[in-house]
Order: sequence, then structure tokens, then C-alpha cells
Amino acid sequence: MVSQLQRLVPCPTGLLQVPDLPSEEGAAPTLSLIIPTYNEGQNLGTLLNALVAVLDPLLPNDYELILVDDDSPDLTWRQGLALGEHLPQLRVMRRQGERGLSSAVIRGWQVAQGRILGVIDADLQHPPEVLQGLLEAIQSGADLAVASRHVEGGGVSEWSLARRILSRGAQTLGLLILPRVVGRVSDPMSGFFMVQRAAIAGPRLNPKGYKILLEVLGRGTIDTITEVGYVFQERQEGSSKVTGRQYFDYIHHLLRLRAGGRLSHLHRRFPWQRFLRFGLVGLSGVVVDMAILYLLHTTLGLPLTRSKIVAAEIAIFNNFVWNDAWTFADVSLRQRGWPARFKRFLKFNLICLGGLVLNVLVLNLVYNLIFGQRWAYLANLIAIGLVTIWNFWLNLKLSWRVTQVK
Ligand code: GDD
Ligand code: MN
Repeated sequence: MVSQLQRLVPCPTGLLQVPDLPSEEGAAPTLSLIIPTYNEGQNLGTLLNALVAVLDPLLPNDYELILVDDDSPDLTWRQGLALGEHLPQLRVMRRQGERGLSSAVIRGWQVAQGRILGVIDADLQHPPEVLQGLLEAIQSGADLAVASRHVEGGGVSEWSLARRILSRGAQTLGLLILPRVVGRVSDPMSGFFMVQRAAIAGPRLNPKGYKILLEVLGRGTIDTITEVGYVFQERQEGSSKVTGRQYFDYIHHLLRLRAGGRLSHLHRRFPWQRFLRFGLVGLSGVVVDMAILYLLHTTLGLPLTRSKIVAAEIAIFNNFVWNDAWTFADVSLRQRGWPARFKRFLKFNLICLGGLVLNVLVLNLVYNLIFGQRWAYLANLIAIGLVTIWNFWLNLKLSWRVTQVK
């Protein structure tokens, strides 16, 4: 029997850096799974039972569980120690003086002994059965295996529309600030994953807030990624620790990763060829728009506004088809099928609509404030130029994007 004192591991201090595996391998377990907790006393017993039930058959005597508790007022850590009486594979870290989900996970990895490092929430929102798929993915050679809500078999249980929009909005923002990191996986917000130690050992990690996976993707040496779908469960006990603060932390974290020198290779040169094609397609759209407008309004005598709306939508459709088949052909080829295509079309449509609003705004601004009334057409030209860049950039980042998952 291990005594409670041995089970309680001291918290590392200093830089957040995951060490290489110590050379005397032999006794070390294959997998180290971190369970970050803050006031999760009510969930701990159920969670540990479930984890053992899943992992014992997969890795008999070959894994460890590391609870990293930030000195919770409900004494989760002490409960961990008590429950650990029957779980030799459990160690408990009581962290004082430092706080936050991401750094808790790294502190856990720092004392971990496994070749594979993992993390799972303590509140049972991450179904433990999914660990099997993650483990299989890593054992077949992936550097990183992420449980994702946004691939086949994935989802959220009972989220309100507002929450879904907020979650997707955060992801969209991430795609705009740091596309080469956030865009690598379908669910960059996931806090449920496994990674090869070798892929993240070494570099100094410096996460902010909640999203540890961003740090792994951004600073690790990750080549192959696999995703496993899972349904994010409703919390039954305890409460979420997310506050508005986490949104600011998230943006701060993204900006910090973007500024980090190691990531500079992730900013590619401006894609001129695509931009040129996009521009040509845009011109074809102008021709379509004009022709339809002429047909509906002048020839058939329909009202101007209605004619223009129909003409614009047909032009947008025209542009989408060409961009999908030509400008972004390489991307579309990797995302075949009608549902995916329809999704791209919807995004393209929304972005173009936003572009139209922007066009009108810029036109008015330039016309009224800068050049005066005589230069309407010059003002429109400037507006069109700006909107083209807007449309191109957003569509590049959002509509025609692919993850790097095999
Ligand atoms: N040690 C420590 N320190 N643990 C923490 C802290 C902290 O400051 N804050 C939260 N935790 C623990 C919680 O106790 C729980 O086990 C886990 O981290 C997740 O916290 P929740 O507050 O339940 O987060 P959530 O359910 O809203 O957010 C989850 O959303 C993502 C999906 O978008 C996060 O858990 C992500 O990991 C998850 O993938
Ligand atoms: Mn939760």
C-alpha cells in the first residue's frame, strides 16, 4: 500500500516545460492521464470508477492518473487522496499559489512518467469510453489524438443556440487570428486529448486560461493528427468554472501564440494566384449581375430593388461555383459531398452579404466625406476594391479551409 504522503506529489515550480522521458524506462507506465480539478468533489468518485473501468482492460497496470487540484475550497484533493486508497495508479497534486486550467495540465505532465500524455475533464462531460479511440489513434502512430465535437459521432447534448453561437464565434475568431494553429483541427477548444510526450517535450510552454490544446498545436512538433468524435455531456454535479474572463484569456492566448517567434513560419506569403482568380471570378459576377438585372428590370419590367436582389443572388451563386471549382479547387477536392459543399456555399453567401453592406457603407463614407458629390464612381471603385479584399480574406480563412487531420 502506498501511503497518502507518497501519493501526494509536490507541484513543480518554475518554467512550464515538459521534460523528456527519463531514461530508466522499465517501470514507467505507458499512459499518464491528467485530471484537472477545481471543486469537483461531487464528481470524483464516479469519474475515477469510470476511468478505471475503461483503462484497466486496455492498459493493465500500465497507466497512471494524476489529479491536479488547485487547492479547491471543497477539498477535492483530499478526497482524491482518500479514494486513492484503493487506486495505486492515482497520484494527487495539490497546487497552491498558481491557478488556471491550462497550466494545471502542464504541471501534471511535468511529473508524469508516461510516453503518452493525456487530459480529461473531471466533471464527466468527457465520456471516458472515448479514451479507447484516442489511445488506439496514438498507438497507431498519431502525434496527437483529439476528441472532437465536430466530426462524425460528435456533438453537444443540450446547448442553447446562444451557447452554440458563442462557441462557434470563438472558433471563428481563432481562425482569423491564428489560422495555421486553430485551423488544424475541427475542435480546437477541446480539452480532451492525448499527445505523444516526444511531440511536446522541450519547448517552453506559456498558455493563458483554458485552452491547452492551442498551446500543444502551436508550440509542439505535431505532424499527424487524428480526431475521434464524442458528444459533450451535460454536467450533472458541480458547476462550470467558465466566466467572461475566459474569453479575454482566449484572445490573449491567441495573440501571444501569434507573436511567439517559433510560430512565424506559420504565416505564409500572400496567396497572389488565388487572389487573382478570385478577382476574375468577381468580374464574371459583375457581368452576370448586370445581365440578369437588365433582363428582369428592363426587359420584363419588374421593380428595380427586387430585380437587383435576384440578380445579386444569382451572381453570388455564379461566383461560388467558379471559386469552388477553380480558385479553391484543391481545397474543395478534399471536402467532397453535397453537405460540405452546401456549407461552403452558405458561408460564402453570408460573407458576400456582409461585403455588400460594407460596400454601401464605404461608398457613402468616401462619397460624402472625402471626395464630395462629384466622384461617386471613384468612391464606388474604392469601395469595391476594399470589399474584394474583405471577401477574399474571409472566404480564404472560413469557407475554403481544411483541417490537417488524416
Ligand atoms: N486545476 C484546475 N484549475 N482545474 C480547473 C480550473 C483551474 O483553474 N478551472 C477548471 N478546471 C477543471 C474543472 O474542474 C473541470 O474538470 C475541467 O477543468 C473543465 O472545467 P469546466 O469549468 O467544467 O469547463 P467547461 O465544461 O465549461 O469547458 C470545457 O469546454 C471544452 C469544450 O469546449 C473545458 O473543459 C474544455 O476542456 C472542453 O473541451
Ligand atoms: Mn465542464
